[in-house]
Amino acid sequence: MGDIFSDRISDVPRSFIREILKLTLDKSVISFAGGLPNRDLFPVQEIKDATDRLLEEAGKDILQYSASEGYLGLREWIADRYRSKNLIVHPDNILITNGSQQGMDLLGKTLLNDNDDIIIEEPGYLGAIQAFSLYRSSFHPVPVSEEGIDLDAFHNTVTRHSIKLFYCVPNFQNPSGISYSEGNRQTIALMLKGRRTILMEDDPYGELRFLGKEKSSFYQLMPEYTLLLGSFSKIVAPSFRIGWIVAHDKIMEKLVIAKQASDLHTNYFCQRIIHRYLRDNDIDKHIRKIREAYGRQRDAMVTAIQEYFPAEVLSTHPEGGMFLWITLPKGLSAMTVFTAAITQKVAFVPGDPFYVNKNDVNTLRLNYSSVDEETIRTGIQRLGNVLKSLIIKK
Ligand SMILES: Cc1ncc(COP(=O)(O)O)c(C=O)c1O
Repeated sequence: MGDIFSDRISDVPRSFIREILKLTLDKSVISFAGGLPNRDLFPVQEIKDATDRLLEEAGKDILQYSASEGYLGLREWIADRYRSKNLIVHPDNILITNGSQQGMDLLGKTLLNDNDDIIIEEPGYLGAIQAFSLYRSSFHPVPVSEEGIDLDAFHNTVTRHSIKLFYCVPNFQNPSGISYSEGNRQTIALMLKGRRTILMEDDPYGELRFLGKEKSSFYQLMPEYTLLLGSFSKIVAPSFRIGWIVAHDKIMEKLVIAKQASDLHTNYFCQRIIHRYLRDNDIDKHIRKIREAYGRQRDAMVTAIQEYFPAEVLSTHPEGGMFLWITLPKGLSAMTVFTAAITQKVAFVPGDPFYVNKNDVNTLRLNYSSVDEETIRTGIQRLGNVLKSLIIKK
């Protein structure tokens, strides 16, 4: 049956995280493997109120087909929010998408030809690797560290290849939790000047900062060549599947054509509910609540790691977001640790799926947003014991 599939789909890696998540369904397993926002923070009552009011006041309107660009009221709200952060974006330069994930697919449809050279972060977001694989991209992974992208490796890659796209998550990256420093961003923008490389700035976590200062957006530094992705998934709820792309006029024109061909428009009912929710509630107060909760969970994890992990094991110190990245001593595969950890009822995601063409890596991702502080402590203690026994055996 293999020969019925397109070449395009045959090259796409499976989401191996889904396989891992199956092992964590057992309730006695403490799982740091998920990537989900904390469900206890979803504004259930407020969403119910917004939906009831909308159905009463505009039931017929909100059940109709709508514009491919998305609901103007929602685009205006997003533009106002950017303005409050000193980023000037016109509502016409915003396209509402089916989650920010669809932004990657629309970029692929609009800008990528087979074998186009693209830079991705190493480790990088699995959903982006999948999305761009469908467009048969030639990947050039460039390492990231606590400061951001490795500037020497980045410079070498942009000078040796004709790079069509650089995809990055500069704030609290998934999977590593790292953020690019201000200097790192400025240098990247300078290196790309005059090169016609498109930069996709994926920013689903930007609002979830609990430490440090906000940094410049690439959209500020190089607006013509940046596509900025945003999302309500982490600040309201992911099930709505509402995100957006900010793009320059010329690119926007083509993105709208790709959007029409894909799905006509994003679920209008959900766009209107989110908009009504945002109009009737104080979103800043809600985001503060999420930030404070994730900040406490992050602190609990960092403190437990310092206490229970062997000193040879390194960890990132995220200033926001939902993830923390662990580097094991050289030669210790995270898959080996995973197998041992499951027997001790604790789970995480081994680093492998976040790399292109690398196996048995010595890195892993821990999620803290969906586990309470006490459970974080118990889970990290269990994982610390597993690590100690494996490191002694080595
Ligand atoms: C870096 C990154 N980009 C995009 C997404 C997808 O977000 P959305 O729910 O807006 O499609 C995620 C989801 O976890 C993510 O981590």
